[in-house]
This record gives sequence, structure tokens and C-alpha cells, in this order.
Amino acid sequence: MTNENSQSPKPKKGLFVQSYGCQMNVYDSERMVDILAPLGYRPVENSEDADLVVLNTCHIREKATEKVYSEIGRIKQQKDAKGGDMMIAVAGCVAQAEGAQIMKRAPTVDLVVGPQAYHHLPELIARAARKSGEVLDTSFDAIDKFDALPIKRENTGYSAFLSVQEGCDKFCSFCVVPYTRGAEYSRPFDKVLDEAKALADNGVMEINLLGQNVNAYNGGDDIKKHGLGALIREISKLPNIKRIRYTTSHPCDMDEDLIMAHGEVEELMPYLHLPVQSGSDKVLKAMNRKHTAKSYLETLDKFRKVRPDIAFASDFIVGFPGESDEDFRETMQLVEEVNYSSAFSFKYSRRPGTPASGMMRQIAEDVKDARLYELQALLAKQQGEFNASSIGKNTKVLVTNKGKREGQVFGKSPFLQSVFVSGGEELVGKIIEIKVTGAGQQSIVGEPIGVFENA
Ligand code: 5AD
Ligand code: SF4
Repeated sequence: MTNENSQSPKPKKGLFVQSYGCQMNVYDSERMVDILAPLGYRPVENSEDADLVVLNTCHIREKATEKVYSEIGRIKQQKDAKGGDMMIAVAGCVAQAEGAQIMKRAPTVDLVVGPQAYHHLPELIARAARKSGEVLDTSFDAIDKFDALPIKRENTGYSAFLSVQEGCDKFCSFCVVPYTRGAEYSRPFDKVLDEAKALADNGVMEINLLGQNVNAYNGGDDIKKHGLGALIREISKLPNIKRIRYTTSHPCDMDEDLIMAHGEVEELMPYLHLPVQSGSDKVLKAMNRKHTAKSYLETLDKFRKVRPDIAFASDFIVGFPGESDEDFRETMQLVEEVNYSSAFSFKYSRRPGTPASGMMRQIAEDVKDARLYELQALLAKQQGEFNASSIGKNTKVLVTNKGKREGQVFGKSPFLQSVFVSGGEELVGKIIEIKVTGAGQQSIVGEPIGVFENA
């Protein structure tokens, strides 16, 4: 992690970036490392060894937000133990939503920077070092930010995130994202391709295209001539790139070209994360989702037609205001009908400033608990069955890491299953064919039977 770089223009300083929440934040955290590298900052494994600690926060649910303050408290102790010789920055969506409050509530925080302003970090750090007043930047200019990001990426590994779209215009009534991340914005097609090429040159084999509504991607020209399907087709032509994924999509933004790409582009993995949130049309309407359970199921069918083995994932919210037992049953029925390979499910969390937080008939916590328990049991059963159905089959695994145990490596199947494979470190960075010998609820295990690309 702490590569000494002889070209480093400044003395080495320790940087610790802690990411919370979505993959978008993981990407942003990586880009902060890239931005700070020319200033001599190098990632360190532990926060106490850092000169600068960045908490890249998530505001999506109340629990995620609460975590920030307890984490600030923990880091403060480390800062105090070093006689204050550490800078603490709060970034991400909590910074955007509650920046001024953070500075008031936690004076140990040196600077606050929103998700569209982190390219200003070098300047903000300099200002914070001068200790001449509050350092808070929650300006909103995604174009400016992406233009300022260096093309060179530091630690990209074999599977990398690439942000292509940011923000959201959908305004689901429960969600803070349109307020914290701003309006939908697509990065220009050629800029994204340049970044993809740079990743491929760095040895990356899998690219995960990211966006809050990634399938609303329009190439930056607003006519969707260069939509996500076109982008995927271009990226698939890059020699080193063997796998492409994208997340997260909205059911209303699915277009024919993207669906067709699943049948035509070999590198596009047979997996789709398409959140539905609820199986009840009444709840979907109150959520302002602008689709019905039926139209969602029809969309999935279109994918099955072009890619029969495709695995589906989703997000669910239980206990949305006004959700009756009957509404919840409809969610359970939808899950039964789709048969998901994996899913994320949450209790509705009341977020200040969102329309749903002011709705009547908020659901009692114990009812939410019971519904979540029931839904998660069904989703876990489906995931376990999906994994078990792999036993005895061959599958290809992109090995990205050493396993926890000696003689074992870790990677992902085309269906995004976590896979543990018997074998040594020499398999890392390769796509290997394995025979699946066992399955659990969360992962599968297998034996290598051949090495494929990049061997
Ligand atoms: N309460 C619970 N879950 C939420 N999500 C977004 N906002 C809320 C909220 N207020 C969930 C949705 C979304 C995922 C990223 O987080 O399921 O798809
Ligand atoms: Fe939030 Fe809905 Fe936008 Fe997704 S589509 S980010 S859930 S408002």
C-alpha cells in the first residue's frame, strides 16, 4: 500500500480514506488518493499513522449518518494522542447535507468537502493548515470536478470502478440523493473512454461502470446517441478488458440498445442489479417510482430473452409510510416470481427534507423489523439456492485477491458470486475456469481446471 515513489515531488505524508455507503463513494475515495498523490500523500493501513484522515460519508439512511459522528469521536482520540498533529476531513453526502452542523458539533474536524467539490482538496488542506477560520466547500459542479480529476489512477487492481454518471432527477420520495448529489449529469463519452483506456493500460481486466442512475447515461450530449449500451460496446473493444458491469440502474431508463448489448457483448456479465423497492403499485406510486410491479417484471423478461442465464439483484425498502400487510405480501410475491441471486433490503428510514418523511401513517418499528426479517429470510433462501445450483458446473472466475486462508484465492463469478478457489497467489489477476464443488449462502467454492485470459 505504501509504495515509495522516487518521483514523488513532496515528502511522504500518510493518508487514510475511509469510505462508507455506495460504490460511488469507493470511486470518489480512490480519486481523492489520486488527487492528493502529487502533494506527497500516500495511503496508510491505519488511521493512527495518517497525517490526513478523510471520512467519505453516506447520508442514505439514519444509521449511516450516525456512524459518522461516532467515527469522528474515535479518530479525535487518535488525533489528541498525537498532540493534534493530524488533519480530519469529512467528505461525501453527510458533508453535503450537514456540513455546517458537523463543524459546530465536532470542532476537531478541520475541513468539510462535498461530493462535487473534492477536487478542491489540495487548496482546502492548505487553508485548513493556516487555521484561519472555517473550511467548508459544498459547491456543486460535477463538470468542473471530473475535468479536474487526473487521468492517472494510483491503485486500480484488476477490477476497477469508473464513474460515468452522477446525480439523480428521479426524486423518489424517500431518497436524499437528488439533494446530496445534485442533478443527473453524464460525463462526456470520449473522457470516459480515455479513463477506461488508462485503466486497461494499468492492468485492469474488469470495469464497473458507476452512476446513481447509470442507465440514464447519455454520453454528455443529451440525445442518448451515446447511451450506456454504446459505451459498453466501445469499452469491450479495449484489448485488456475482459469483463464489464454497471450499477445502479433505474427501471424507467432501460433502453433497447442496453438490453440488446446483454445478448451481444461477451464481456458484459450476465448480472443485473435493478432495484424495484416494492412489489405494491400503491407503494411504488407513493414512492414516486414511476413504474409498476408489472412493468418491472416485463423489463426483466426482456433481459431473460436475450440472456437466459442472467442473474437479477434488487434493492427493497420495507415499512414505507402507508405500507399495509397486503402491500408487503405483494413484495414477497414479486420476490418469489423473480427469484433473485442476491439483494439488498432495508427498513424505511425517515430522511429530513424528503417528501416521505412528512407522510402520514409512518410504520411502527416492530412492524418494519418483522417485515424485514421475513423478506431477508426469503432473499437469503433464494441466494443459497442460486449458489447451490452452481455445484457441479464449471464457471469462470476473475481472481482479484489472495484468500483469507493459505492455499486459497478469492474472486467473482460472472454472476457476481463470491468464489473461493484452491490455489496460490500466482492465480491473482487471471481468469480461471473452475469446477464448483460447494456452496454456502454467501459464496461458492471450487477447484481450478484451467487458466484462461491473461495466463
Ligand atoms: N430508507 C431506506 N432505504 C433507503 N434507500 C434509499 N433511501 C432510503 C431510505 N430513506 C435504499 C434504496 C436504494 C438504496 C441505495 O438505498 O433501496 O435503492
Ligand atoms: Fe434515490 Fe430514486 Fe434517485 Fe435511486 S432513483 S438515487 S432511489 S431518488
